Amino acid sequence: MSFDTNEFRRALGNFATGVTVITAQDEQGNKVGVTANSFNSVSLDPPLVLWSLVKSSSSYKVFEQAKHFAVNVLAADQIDTSNNFAKPSDDKFAGMEFDLGVGNSPILKNTTACFQCEQHQIIDGGDHWIMLGKVVSFDHVGRNPLLYVQGSYAGAIPFTASTAKTTKPQNALNSLDRLNNNAFYLMNKVLQKVQEHYFPKQSATGLNTSEARLLLVLSDAKGITLDELKRLVTIPSTDVESGVEQLIQTGLLSSELALTSKGHDMAERLWDIANKQQEDIFGDFSKEEYDNFKKLLQSVLNQ
Ligand SMILES: Cc1cc2nc3c(=O)[nH]c(=O)nc-3n(C[C@H](O)[C@H](O)[C@H](O)COP(=O)(O)O)c2cc1C
Repeated sequence: MSFDTNEFRRALGNFATGVTVITAQDEQGNKVGVTANSFNSVSLDPPLVLWSLVKSSSSYKVFEQAKHFAVNVLAADQIDTSNNFAKPSDDKFAGMEFDLGVGNSPILKNTTACFQCEQHQIIDGGDHWIMLGKVVSFDHVGRNPLLYVQGSYAGAIPFTASTAKTTKPQNALNSLDRLNNNAFYLMNKVLQKVQEHYFPKQSATGLNTSEARLLLVLSDAKGITLDELKRLVTIPSTDVESGVEQLIQTGLLSSELALTSKGHDMAERLWDIANKQQEDIFGDFSKEEYDNFKKLLQSVLNQ
């Protein structure tokens, strides 16, 4: 069976992952680092992990020769680090803070976890090499992890209590009293609720998160160049390119990045969804309550 590679990649993008930078150093002192979301656990005993590296990567030689590699699991405030290691460069480590770990693999600072591995096996996997590593040491500090889903960077909102609409036993409800008086808990629940309602409506348009966001930005920022667009959105550069390509292919965008009339209609539909969402949430509040709520949020953000 053959199918559209782009569509296959878009479908795979629904599997949310973390973001890692895999690093290694060979005996000649050549350091490599590649942003990878293909990292996963394999086995607890022996402790094995894997990731896959595109065969065209300029870093493959070093990964193949090095006896070790390190998996640096990025934290939510490390989008710049992810972007830095996702584009080819003569020295991806310039300006980066790192130590050297087992086998001299660079260990990046301020990550949420790190797994230092001995190279275990390299397996041929189509257009990628599957790199299996045996973990020899690990470290984790539990910072908020950086996520990647539907071509966009994202953060994790913990589901703090069941959202199921089933009747809960009375004693369980009582024990939620303290939670229901906790502003942090309430903020998380509100975000959860907003996202649950918003995303199905957005994806019903046929666009994924990053495509919808690109179209909205392009509808607002006329005459913007591709490079400016890449700097403006929290979407990896390659996903900006494939998202723009998808918008062009579906007739929403011209190759000069201008919205077509179909694109304008779609952007309006997306704005309507966002406005309707706002109306659904805040429609029952007075203007004063709504303004105060926004002021409160702004002052929390400015703290
Ligand atoms: C979020 C994200 C995840 C990525 N995951 C992988 C991956 O798992 N494997 C891979 O080979 N490339 C992946 N890439 C692309 C590489 O980071 C990119 O091609 C890198 O420049 C390859 O390095 P090199 O060619 O300099 O060796 C990813 C990029 C991003 C932004």
